[in-house]
Amino acid sequence: MEYNNSEFLIETEVPQGELIISRTNLKGEITYANEIFAEISGYTVEELIGKSHNIVRHPDMPKIAFKELWQTIKEFKKWKGYVKNLRKDGGFYWVYAEVSGVFFNNEIIEYKSVRTPITYEQKLEAQKLYDGIKEKVKGELKRRVIYQ
Ligand SMILES: Cc1cc2nc3c(=O)[nH]c(=O)nc-3n(C[C@H](O)[C@H](O)[C@H](O)COP(=O)(O)O)c2cc1C
Repeated sequence: MEYNNSEFLIETEVPQGELIISRTNLKGEITYANEIFAEISGYTVEELIGKSHNIVRHPDMPKIAFKELWQTIKEFKKWKGYVKNLRKDGGFYWVYAEVSGVFFNNEIIEYKSVRTPITYEQKLEAQKLYDGIKEKVKGELKRRVIYQ
């Protein structure tokens, strides 16, 4: 995969067996982040707490993915999908994410997400899917990608 412009190039691999875990309040502000989340995203845990979870939002992710995510979790269901996230240093990391509610007395009091590594083929599949979605939304895809 090759980008025409040179930003957002450096990939960080999530090590096998590691879980990136976070929780947010109902507004999507981070209330808990584990050490692995901090390490992989390039932030410290202290920097992440209290920030909107879009702090790691990568410009390659189509808006519709997060619209769907929020609709799904608000309906008490679990959202699952591949996510490309932005590191503090401008690099990126891919994950498989499951996002759902944290329940107390049958009510959602917070949201939680657990993320695991994905394969190169899965990254390629997701990148193509998201580029395709962005291409259809006028003005969203701002660059050309060459897949290898
Ligand atoms: C528990 C939880 C975890 C989330 N994890 C991520 C994440 O890892 N990366 C991401 O870009 N958005 C994540 N989001 C979605 C963000 O809240 C946000 O909707 C998204 O980054 C898009 O930003 P925007 O709504 O400001 O456009 C998560 C949301 C929740 C509730």
